[in-house]
Amino acid sequence: MSQGNVLFFLTGSIACYKACTAISRLTQAGVTVQTVATPAALRFIGPATLEALSGRPVFSDMWESGRALDHIECARQSDLALVCPATGNTINRLAAGLADDLPGALFLAWEHRQKPWWIAPAMNTYMWQHPATQASVARLRSWGVHVIEPAEGLLACGDTGAGRLADPEKIASEVLAALARK
Ligand SMILES: Cc1cc2nc3c(=O)[nH]c(=O)nc-3n(C[C@H](O)[C@H](O)[C@H](O)COP(=O)(O)O)c2cc1C
Repeated sequence: MSQGNVLFFLTGSIACYKACTAISRLTQAGVTVQTVATPAALRFIGPATLEALSGRPVFSDMWESGRALDHIECARQSDLALVCPATGNTINRLAAGLADDLPGALFLAWEHRQKPWWIAPAMNTYMWQHPATQASVARLRSWGVHVIEPAEGLLACGDTGAGRLADPEKIASEVLAALARK
């Protein structure tokens, strides 16, 4: 029996490879994971990997023929949405209410009063600290979005500071705990 349904968004960060660990842990625990990847995310991780880890084809094109409303249906069926990794771009776009890509459209279509929406940011420390990003994060929090704080440390770009994706094992554990509380 499924332990819950997670809509798992990947956006264009080097940390996409770490998100694969979280997807793997969730599916191993019996969670049904539907992945959604932006075009930028698919430059970091291939659709075959996401399909193999989740057992389902990834959604990446809102306009894909034959699947036009499937993503809305799977959003309806999901218990929790997680954007992992969440780029500065996507965080700022969600906070602006833009809906011209899958994360944005599904964020607006999400039943926020009933179901949690989480983001796990990952980016360069200056991107994370930028007032635009911090204002967007504050705005998303005010709408009830749960933010998994990025960790501090050495970043892929060579800088040191806040912005590393939180430990993917810990992210998966927190999602499992949230699903168990449902
Ligand atoms: C090698 C490389 C690594 C990147 N890593 C990040 C990252 O960790 N976090 C981030 O916010 N943007 C990162 N970017 C920039 C995003 O990929 C870019 O803003 C993109 O438009 C994000 O699109 P999306 O939010 O639709 O996925 C990176 C770009 C490149 C080329």
